[in-house]
Amino acid sequence: MLPRVLEPEAMNTPDEAVEYDSMDHAAVNARFVADFLAGHGPCRGGEILDLGTGTARIPIALCQADPNARVLATDLSGPMLDLAHRNIAAAELAARIRTFHGDAKELTLPNGAFEAVISNSITHHIPDPAPVVCEIVRLVAPGGTVFVRDLARPSDLDQIDQLLQTYAGSESAPARALFEASLRAALTLDEFRALVRGVGLVDAGACVTQTSDRHWTWLWRRPD
Ligand SMILES: C[S@@+](CC[C@H](N)C(=O)[O-])C[C@H]1O[C@@H](n2cnc3c(N)ncnc32)[C@H](O)[C@@H]1O
Repeated sequence: MLPRVLEPEAMNTPDEAVEYDSMDHAAVNARFVADFLAGHGPCRGGEILDLGTGTARIPIALCQADPNARVLATDLSGPMLDLAHRNIAAAELAARIRTFHGDAKELTLPNGAFEAVISNSITHHIPDPAPVVCEIVRLVAPGGTVFVRDLARPSDLDQIDQLLQTYAGSESAPARALFEASLRAALTLDEFRALVRGVGLVDAGACVTQTSDRHWTWLWRRPD
């Protein structure tokens, strides 16, 4: 098993934000939105919380896919949120996507306030994501959905090489380096299941599953 090698937490410089936003994540984002809607069902008009929204590409794709979606898009990085505002305005979705500057480990938002809590690709940035898991469970409404996805750390260097070739072969050198660093910083499926069990969800083995050759997904409905 490869050891976990941490990345910096927030993507805090304007250059990092621009580099991230220039990468083409459209197919991954479309899959995220389709899988979320398949698990949650059509949006019911409540607000959906996106943790670590980056440049808000997923909230935009979600609002374009479902006319009832409304999103609170949060991130720890000011430069990421600056680009998020630009992207939301360009998509003419400012009436349905609000932003919030905050740390997913401790958010000043009310208990059970969100129809769903979604998040893509942030746990690998966070040295100990246990407080984020607690916040997710605290913030989702009864009957609401948790949909969290991230990379799964590969077990060896050959697997990293294979994923780099398959998914970043035609990307720029900085984009390839970022993908490799993210794979090395990711939690394994078992490590993330242990965090979910740690907040008392005994069915972690069933609700956190491997959903592609490089991702795990936590899909959970909070009981009413
Ligand atoms: C790889 S990007 C993913 C962005 C977006 N979810 C997407 O899929 O395009 C990770 C994001 O998580 C943010 N992040 C990292 N740690 C965070 C924290 N503790 N609270 C909120 N956001 C955080 C980073 O600033 C960055 O914007």
